[in-house]
Amino acid sequence: MTGVTPATLPGVESPRELISADEIGRRIRELASEIDDDYADAGEIVLIGILKGSFVFLSDLARAITIPRRIEFIAVSSYGDRESDLHPGAVRLLMDVRHDIADRHVLVVEDIVDTGHTLAYLLRLLKARGPATLRACTLLSKPDRRAVDVDLDYVGFEIPDEWVVGYGLDFAERHRTLPNICVIDPPT
Ligand code: IMP
Ligand code: MG
Repeated sequence: MTGVTPATLPGVESPRELISADEIGRRIRELASEIDDDYADAGEIVLIGILKGSFVFLSDLARAITIPRRIEFIAVSSYGDRESDLHPGAVRLLMDVRHDIADRHVLVVEDIVDTGHTLAYLLRLLKARGPATLRACTLLSKPDRRAVDVDLDYVGFEIPDEWVVGYGLDFAERHRTLPNICVIDPPT
């Protein structure tokens, strides 16, 4: 392969740690115990992870929670699509959940809430299906970037307006498997 790829772009290959793996682990145990308490009488909850970014967070969170829980995934179009460049905020459903969520206690699990468009779209879509309750949990939130109001019931960390990678999050599919959350300087 020739040409400039993210692998050769300055800044992208030198992630700087923002949140350590230990801090992430501690915060996830706190979130899980809050969720255990809040849903103690719910019977069972359905955790819906938003692909791809939330796959690491969801797997750790789902195992730290102790109340009965099911796992589902949903996939939406992500940044970098030609469509979302043309229409900022446009979100497209790529893959739906496998089971009906009517009358279920649904907790959407996201890696990061940036403008809020993705989560606002998904919450609207899922709400129309009549869940018993519908809440949102995100590992990271960038409040300074919010363009639409979205209710976040559980937030791991609020972070500044920088591009973060690791622990499931990527830049152009890179760095998803880092154990910690790091900042990079993506080329503009
Ligand atoms: P929103 O619709 O603007 O809130 O964007 C949410 C999605 O954008 C997230 O689910 C991520 O996939 C992606 N995203 C936003 N900020 C970052 C970041 O700093 N690193 C990696 N992905 C990000
Ligand atoms: Mg995401």
